[in-house]
Amino acid sequence: MATKPRQPKGELVSRAIAMPADTNANGDIFGGWVMAQMDLGASVVARRVAKRRVTTVAVDAMSFLYPISVGDLVSCYAQLMQQGNTSMKINVEVWVERNIAIDPHCTTEAIFTYVAIDENGRPVPICLR
Ligand SMILES: CC(C)(COP(=O)(O)OP(=O)(O)OC[C@H]1O[C@@H](n2cnc3c(N)ncnc32)[C@H](O)[C@@H]1OP(=O)(O)O)[C@@H](O)C(=O)NCCC(=O)NCCS
Repeated sequence: MATKPRQPKGELVSRAIAMPADTNANGDIFGGWVMAQMDLGASVVARRVAKRRVTTVAVDAMSFLYPISVGDLVSCYAQLMQQGNTSMKINVEVWVERNIAIDPHCTTEAIFTYVAIDENGRPVPICLR
C-alpha cells in the first residue's frame, strides 16, 4: 500500500524567498536565518494564545533535514502542542517549494517554547478568555 505523502502540520504563519544574503559558507541558506523565520512564525501562534507579549525560552528537537537554496519559497507552519501555566510549546515546520517539478518538502522542524511575560519581562499566567 502506498504511504500517504507528509503534509504540513499547523497553520501557515510566514512566507519568504531565501535570498543570496542569507547563505552560509557552503552556499546553502544559513541555519540561523531559518531559525529566525521559525521563531517569528511560531511567535504568531504564541502571541495569539497568550493575548500578550511573549518571549522565547527554549528550542528543542531542532532538525535540519535538507538544505535550502537561494530562490526557494520558504513557508513556516506552526501549531500549539502544549500549554502550561505561563508557557506554550509550539511545533514548527519549514516547507520549501523550489519549482513546479519538485513537490513541497519539509526541510526543518523544531519545538519552540514561549513564556507569556508582563511589562517587566516576568512570566505571567496565560488567561483563558
Ligand atoms: C523566559 C523567562 C522570563 C522565564 O523566567 P523564569 O524565571 O525562568 O520563569 P519560571 O521558572 O517561572 O518559568 C516560566 C515557565 O517557563 C518554563 N521554562 C523555563 N525554562 C524553560 C526551558 N529551558 N525549557 C522549557 N520551558 C522552560 C517553565 O516550565 C514555566 O512554565 P509554566 O509556567 O507553564 O509551568 C526568563 O528565563 C527570560 O527572560 N529568558 C530570556 C528570554 C529571551 O531573552 N528570549 C529571547 C532569546 S532569542
